[in-house]
Amino acid sequence: MVKLFERMTLRGVELDNRIVVSPMGMYSAENGYVTPFHLVHYGKFAMGGAGLVFVEQTSVSRKGRITNGDPGLWEDGQIDGMRQIVHVIKSHGSKAAIQINHGGRKSSQQRAFRGNSHLTDRDVEMGEETWVPTGPSDVPFSDGFQTPVPLSKDGLVGIRDAFVAACRRAVLAGFDVIELHMAHGYLLQSFLSPLANFRTDEYGGSLENRMRFPLEVTRAVRDALPSSTPLFVRISATDWIDGGWEIEDSVVFSRELKALGVDLVDCSTGGNLRAGSTNANLGRGPGYQVPFAERIRHEAGIATGAVGMIRTPDFAEKVLQDGRADLIFIARQMLFNPFWALHAAEHFGLTGNFEKWPEQYAWWLAKWGGALRGNGERLDGFEQFREAAE
Ligand SMILES: Cc1cc2nc3c(=O)[nH]c(=O)nc-3n(C[C@H](O)[C@H](O)[C@H](O)COP(=O)(O)O)c2cc1C
Repeated sequence: MVKLFERMTLRGVELDNRIVVSPMGMYSAENGYVTPFHLVHYGKFAMGGAGLVFVEQTSVSRKGRITNGDPGLWEDGQIDGMRQIVHVIKSHGSKAAIQINHGGRKSSQQRAFRGNSHLTDRDVEMGEETWVPTGPSDVPFSDGFQTPVPLSKDGLVGIRDAFVAACRRAVLAGFDVIELHMAHGYLLQSFLSPLANFRTDEYGGSLENRMRFPLEVTRAVRDALPSSTPLFVRISATDWIDGGWEIEDSVVFSRELKALGVDLVDCSTGGNLRAGSTNANLGRGPGYQVPFAERIRHEAGIATGAVGMIRTPDFAEKVLQDGRADLIFIARQMLFNPFWALHAAEHFGLTGNFEKWPEQYAWWLAKWGGALRGNGERLDGFEQFREAAE
């Protein structure tokens, strides 16, 4: 049995396979509203056969955006554009998920493809808006970044309620799965990590105190969601820095999430400080975050998602066969090849002759593609692509 193509049911939602398009910010929304770019972008992953397609990190408030190009769900007018994306994703047989976020001290920065750092005077000349970020404490993310204003208790209640309202709007838009972003140094993770949270009230200090606000948000969101809607949480399982958030903390935190009704922990790492950002210069290899998904799965007893440099169907399959995770999240390989899931199904011999491809493509590919070698021998999709390019 090929596990990658085993169905998985979470609450009322049945995924066709274990392949997930990982959330990827496109920084291309206009004033918090999605555009036709997003429709095409997300639609093609569904057409490519992924079981679950994630819409990028989406902000709970205008000031919670990381960049001027982030989509939001802070007002009802934003629901309709999201509904269209959901419709396109589902019409191709995938399920639709969305990641809900507040950027915290990493808010008000450049769109990734324009520098991926703090906003400069030149960005402002180009029309980018800047604003003062908020965070657990008055410590900036890195050199050049603005100093955040520490959130008051009323401010925390307001943000908790904004998470709830955004998640409700996501359900109205038709999303099957909701994920809370508690990774990569954004607001909720920065409460967790002792390297970003220096508060002296009940939201800072001990592990229990640092977990308090993220857990309050989780509880409020879970209570507001229909019981048939799965809730995921993405965490940074380690800060990758001595004295920071560690895998042991993640296990404790995941147990708490499970007790609150979270269905899956999506295990990323880093991003809380420049030195611990997930970036290729740090020399990480294939599947480098899988050990975190494995440990949390076994020690917290909760389903996990593995992500990070999982590139080939064989490697993804091995992670599942070895019981290290329940879902495989793929980001960059999907940008490179949105048909990754269909190619994987062919690779494992589960489908032949393009039968799972959109019929508008399949008819042509099966009839003419199969004749490429001239001897009637069928090539799988990727071989065909390679041979045709030679
Ligand atoms: C263009 C791009 C945008 C990303 N945006 C997000 C995001 O919105 N939320 C998130 O949690 N991770 C984001 N990530 C991280 C990915 O979801 C994923 O965890 C990471 O790229 C590692 O997986 P990969 O090796 O398959 O690319 C982004 C990655 C890329 C390449």
